[in-house]
Parts: sequence; structure tokens; C-alpha cells
Amino acid sequence: MVKKKAQILIIDDDKSLCQIVANTLEYEGYETEAVHDGKTALEKVNEKERDLILLDLRLPDMDGMDVLKKIMEGEHNLQAIMISGEGTIHTAVEATKIGAYDFLEKPLDSDRVLLTIKNALDRNTLVQEKQLLLQSVKEHYQMVGASGEMQKIHEIIRKAAATNSKVLIQGENGTGKELVARAIHNNSQRAGRPFIAVNCAAIPETLIESELFGHKKGAFTGAIADKPGRFQMAEGGTIFLDEIGDMSLMTQAKVLRTLEDSTVEMVGGSQPILVDVRVIAATNKDLQEEMKEDNFREDLYFRLNVLNIMVPALRDRKEDIPLLVVHYIEQICNEHGVKLKKMSSRAMNRLVNYPWPGNVRELKNFIEKMVILVESTEMQPGEIVSLLESHSKLKQPASDNLTLKEAKEIFERDFIRDKLITANHNITKAAEMLGLPRTYLHKKIKKLDVEV
Ligand SMILES: Nc1ncnc2c1ncn2[C@@H]1O[C@H](COP(=O)(O)OP(=O)(O)OP(=O)(O)O)[C@@H](O)[C@H]1O
Ligand SMILES: [Mg+2]
Repeated sequence: MVKKKAQILIIDDDKSLCQIVANTLEYEGYETEAVHDGKTALEKVNEKERDLILLDLRLPDMDGMDVLKKIMEGEHNLQAIMISGEGTIHTAVEATKIGAYDFLEKPLDSDRVLLTIKNALDRNTLVQEKQLLLQSVKEHYQMVGASGEMQKIHEIIRKAAATNSKVLIQGENGTGKELVARAIHNNSQRAGRPFIAVNCAAIPETLIESELFGHKKGAFTGAIADKPGRFQMAEGGTIFLDEIGDMSLMTQAKVLRTLEDSTVEMVGGSQPILVDVRVIAATNKDLQEEMKEDNFREDLYFRLNVLNIMVPALRDRKEDIPLLVVHYIEQICNEHGVKLKKMSSRAMNRLVNYPWPGNVRELKNFIEKMVILVESTEMQPGEIVSLLESHSKLKQPASDNLTLKEAKEIFERDFIRDKLITANHNITKAAEMLGLPRTYLHKKIKKLDVEV
């Protein structure tokens, strides 16, 4: 790939100086253009994107400072370096306060000019990379779907984002509960502050209090220094308490206290610490049922359930399936550097009519497998049917054609599901019955896509 040359605009009324600087820069591989007054400089900056300007503070028609201000007001991705002559150094320092990267004093020293330009361009690259990264994070968490159900969800997200209320998100596995939580945060006034997700089911009971609220040095063996908890890390932002239905009654009591008075008490600490954190919780459990069974505190439920969002299962919003399929084919083909694949409409129908018990997560995993395994660029129903068969076979009783690994997965999935049913969907109880740590069981359930 040929690297694009950085474009530099030199703005100085001293034509011979412009010539010398331009020669030095072009020799170093930059592309330059020189102009000699403020008005032309503004026209040139608006006419095409530049990476950097070298701007003299004294221009015949305008003050260099005014030119800088005008350029900074525009949405340009450029760095500005001021050139100051005698008596203008003070102004040059001022210029850095309104956004100039640095300033150079006349007479110009070519080594210093080159070094300052290189540093400024490096910073520009960093700024651009950060923007690209933010963009890709945004795309990664983009919510696809145009069904009436999804429109309702967007409407609630918009309302929830405008407030600081606690939100309880419910829905089956893989429906997009975390995406909803992120969307609320990203559209709220807290967007520039942290979004801290805590998977309550994945943290061992002995550690959860210290994870959530932090600990003081010496609070327990191994606490070698003060460590803030997730609530403190989320200061000014949002904490996402995921799988809250799996939190023990003891931890529920502590979380309730934090929700009641907006304070946390570090393990081993003596003073409550005030925190400003918005709380969003999610679960795939039926909390009404959990309350009846005395597994979930009623008071915590009412504290959390100020706004309630029920994310519908994918089979109840089938019209979103083609949009999701196209979205994920595009994303996954790009990621794998594979030529964009198309789907015939009959093949798409097959996907629309599949029940997707693991919801969007299952669909996404399926598309990834499909992009890698199917070689043709336009996918036909036959290919989809055979892939769907082997995909769903992993969820059905063992058949003769399975490998040992596949058969093991089927057995494990069924066995875990049965135990979960016996334990009334209580992961802690099921883990005890299976002789597994709760966190390990949780990971297994996710990995094997067990329907909880
Ligand atoms: N509407 C959507 N558009 C695009 N991708 C989605 C959508 N909903 C979910 N996904 C994707 O599906 C996967 C699962 O989503 P997410 O983790 O938010 O679900 P969840 O409800 O929290 O699942 P679990 O209950 O298993 O934790 C993620 O990769 C997410 O990006
Ligand atoms: Mg989740």
C-alpha cells in the first residue's frame, strides 16, 4: 500500500522563507503548498483537507491569530504550528491555548521545524486512530432491527437515557440485554464517563463484595493495597449489574444499601463513600418466581424495577432476522477479509423460520460458521439446510454421525439442563448438585448455549 503523503500548507508573506521551508519538507516526503495572506489561507483550508498548517502570526491582510481561530472553529482534522517573529512569542503561546500544537521562532531552524512537524503529525494520527476506534466500538454495539418490538425498545431506551432512573432489563439469553444497557448509557449525559459491566454470576461469592465495593489494605490475606470496587470505577457513569438474578441474598442486601443511600463501604473500611453511579441491572430469570422462592429480595426488586425493559426473543420478531443476517455477514466477511457473501431469498427464508433458542447470539455464531464453511458467494437453501441441520443436531439427542466431542457436548448440555430444571433454575443449587463451582457452571452454560 502506498502511504499517502502528508499535506502541509505554509502560510507566510515571506515568499523566500516559504520556498526554503517547502524545499526542506518536500525533500522529507511531505507535499506542500504555500500561500501569502490570511484570506487565501482560509480558502485553501476549506477547499481540501490538509494534515498540518504552518501559520505566520503576522500576515498582510489579517492577524494570524484570527486565521487560527477561524480554522479551529471548522471541523478540520489538522494540526497547526504557529511561526512567530520578533515580538510575537507571547501571542504564539496564547495560540497554543486555543488549539495550536506548538510554535516555532524565526529564524527557523530546519531540524526543529522537521521534528515539530513530525510530532504534530503523530498526534494527528493518534487522534484519527482514536476516532476510528470509537467508531468501531459504536458499530460493534450497534443495535440492528426495525420490527415494531425493536422500535418500542428504542423508544424506551430514548426515554431511559434522558433520566437517571434505575433500569431492570429482562429477556432470554442472547436477546441483547447488554446492548440495551450500553445504548442507554451511550445516549445519556453520562456517555463520556465509564460503563462498568459486572457479571454477578461469574464472580465467586467470596470475592463479590470486594469486587463491587473495593477493599482497604489489610482487609484480608492478600489485600496488599487499597483497591477500589466497580461502583467506584463507574463514578459519574453507569454500572451494569448483569445476571442479577444469580446474586446471593447476602450480596443483594449490600447492593440494596448502596442503592438506598448512594454510598459504598469498602471491605475493611470504616467510612461510607458517596458514589454517583447510575444502576442498570439485567437477568434472564423470572424475578417474580425467584421472589416467591425467596431467592430474590422484594425490596431490591422494587428499587431496581423503576423502568422495566423486556427484550423480546428473536422468534417473536422474525422480521429482524434478515437485517441481522445481512449485518453480520457484512461484519464477519470484513473481519475475515472474505469476499462479501450473498444469500438467496429462499436460503434467507430458512433462517427466518428457524426458532433460534439462543437468540441473536446464536444467529451471530451461526453466520460466522456459515461465512467460514460455505465457499459459494451466493448461499443456496440446500447449503443452509445442511448447516442448520448440523447446527441443531448439537442441540438434539446424539446421532451415529457425531464425533466424540460433539456427543460429549450434547450429553453435557442435556445433563446440565436437567439439573437446572431440578434445581428450579437456581445456578448455585445446580452447581452444588453437579459438584462444580458456580462460576464454572455459568461459563459452561454460556459455552454450550444451554437453554436456562
Ligand atoms: N439487536 C441487535 N443487533 C445486533 N446485534 C445484537 C442485537 N442483539 C444482540 N446482539 C448481539 O448478540 C450477542 C448477545 O447480545 P447481549 O450480550 O447483549 O445479550 P444478552 O441478552 O445480554 O445475553 P445473555 O443473557 O446471554 O447475557 C452480542 O454479540 C450482541 O452484539
Ligand atoms: Mg448479557
